Amino acid sequence: MKPFSSRIIHWQQRHGRHTLPWQTTRDPYRIWLSEIMLQQTQVATVIPYFERFVARFPDLTALAAAHEDAVLALWSGLGYYSRARNLHAAACTIADNQGGKFPATADAIAQLPGVGRSTAAAIAALAYGQRCAILDGNVKRVLARHGGIAGWPGDKKVESALWQLAESRLPHGAIEAYTQGMMDLGALVCTRSQPACTGCPVNVDCIAYTQQRTTELPAPRPKKMLPEKQVQMLLLLDRGELMLEKRPVQGIWGGMWSLPELALDADPASHCRDHFGHVALTQQAMPQLTHSFTHFKLHIHPVQLQLAPRLATPAGQIWLPLSSALDAALPAPIRTLVKQLGPH
Ligand code: ADE
Repeated sequence: MKPFSSRIIHWQQRHGRHTLPWQTTRDPYRIWLSEIMLQQTQVATVIPYFERFVARFPDLTALAAAHEDAVLALWSGLGYYSRARNLHAAACTIADNQGGKFPATADAIAQLPGVGRSTAAAIAALAYGQRCAILDGNVKRVLARHGGIAGWPGDKKVESALWQLAESRLPHGAIEAYTQGMMDLGALVCTRSQPACTGCPVNVDCIAYTQQRTTELPAPRPKKMLPEKQVQMLLLLDRGELMLEKRPVQGIWGGMWSLPELALDADPASHCRDHFGHVALTQQAMPQLTHSFTHFKLHIHPVQLQLAPRLATPAGQIWLPLSSALDAALPAPIRTLVKQLGPH
């Protein structure tokens, strides 16, 4: 039997993906950007964001010269916005301290904010052909199944066993095809549910397949209840314009534009009057919306208020016509709410 890596490489060349927008380049900047976008987001979602991003910021210098708000606006809807802030901060550091030259080794790439060991290895392998092992969620699944590694892959001991396995299986050539092949196999064949094992190039010696344990491997994250929070969000409208507030840089949706929030039992019209000096003419509840973060679930109770013409705009707030509000750096659920207001 051929080695594991040879079978992966051969399979990638015949059945893997070859035309994704970040695969037709060896530009480390583009590969870095794609790997960051792909960290928590599916390929199909990433593609249009990636295209828009590189059209606007074609290289590291352009990104470093941008205002953070412009970067966040292009990220708007992708979620996990610290990725965008880290990307921008890293571009500024490279431009200022490294002469604009993207770092050349996996270890140096791993020093960039927002880049972990696996992402650094993927960039080094795909951009420079360096022989380094990746271990993202898809690859963890492939290796846990093939090597029969029990336990939740987020557990430190399990993860280190998976890293060892990943290192031990690296090929001596064609690292690009191998790296892409592991990702493609995880995404296309060795899927979480109902994997297509009969089409897998490494099924003959796969422990999960040969022992019919694909449903139990890899073990899921131990269940814990997510805390739930309730909040009202105000959509304040004045002559067709919507009020947005900039979120503090720390915490969820840091640095993005969002809606004023208040406790569930607070009265929106009194809040408007007492905190913003606005008189509400009408008030209407909108349908509830739930957004799941990694650590809690947020139940949003949106309320739309038509205000009497305003007199002043405090710092940290902006008023935007609804159409331009959608161009701002809005978190996904806020974007959904603004869209529900419809054309005005
Ligand atoms: N997921 C993470 N990196 C990827 C890549 N380079 N191609 C496809 N999916 C990926």
